Amino acid sequence: MLKHKDVLGLYDLSAEEIDEILSVGMSMKKLLKQNIKKLPHLQGKSVTTLFYENSTRTRCSFELAAKYMGAHVVNIAASSSSVQKGETLVDTGKTLDAMKNDVIVIRHPMGGAPRLLARTVKAHVVNAGDGMNEHPSQALLDMLTMRENFPSIRGLKVAILGDISHSRVAKSNLFGLTKLGAEVTMYAPRTLLPTGIDKMGAKVCSSREEAVEGADVVMGLRIQLERQHAGNFPSLGEYAKFYGVNEQVMKYAKEGALVMHPGPVNRGVELTSALIDGETSRIEEQVLSGIAVRMAILFLLTKQEI
Ligand code: CP
Repeated sequence: MLKHKDVLGLYDLSAEEIDEILSVGMSMKKLLKQNIKKLPHLQGKSVTTLFYENSTRTRCSFELAAKYMGAHVVNIAASSSSVQKGETLVDTGKTLDAMKNDVIVIRHPMGGAPRLLARTVKAHVVNAGDGMNEHPSQALLDMLTMRENFPSIRGLKVAILGDISHSRVAKSNLFGLTKLGAEVTMYAPRTLLPTGIDKMGAKVCSSREEAVEGADVVMGLRIQLERQHAGNFPSLGEYAKFYGVNEQVMKYAKEGALVMHPGPVNRGVELTSALIDGETSRIEEQVLSGIAVRMAILFLLTKQEI
């Protein structure tokens, strides 16, 4: 049973709550692998996805997760909604509440928007990514993928490389993984490393080899091309050459270390194509974990009595 009404970030959730979501997610994934896509857990419930930013994986997998469990699902893209007529987030939330929605899944460019919505509505709110703050369901699906491949998350060494500064995925993974007892190392150009990330529990390294040394999992993060105008690094080619993960760098990791990436990936920038498509890559597996973990979140939130 989750203690919170909403899932806004892994900073808020206890290790026990994270563990419970992962356990239910593992069961859901087993069902998905057997191609079982008709479950009763959300029958009679309504789920709305409210996206103010683009998405393929997150929006689609929340929709499928809800539908596989029998919910009614409505998808709202802010670009084609009354937001364009000036409706505020709070008024949009009140409208969705009045329609008796049970869960609102929101992605928003402003950090804190899901928390504001959660304070306003009776529905359970799930953060599907807010600005540079958190992306909890992404980190949970990453952890689910790790848990499937290792006996325990406790004691794992996870190296995260890429645009950490702008990454909500990096922060949610850092909070979740350290709560479950993993070590997290990070490496990026100084301009793509947020100040104080070490105080949040990350070991900041001075080379990609140091970050990857002895790692069980190497996670690349997307270089956000839309932010490249800020001049944080000279060019994509130089980023790939000096900061990207390639086969040479992976030699420092444990033998058979997993390669992960939340997607969308810039091939040949964060990771080489050979690594993305290689045997140790779990990038496609992460996508299926995404549906499973979102099924777990929706189920655990709607079965609780608050
Ligand atoms: N990883 C992730 O959040 O992907 P989308 O932007 O496609 O949802």
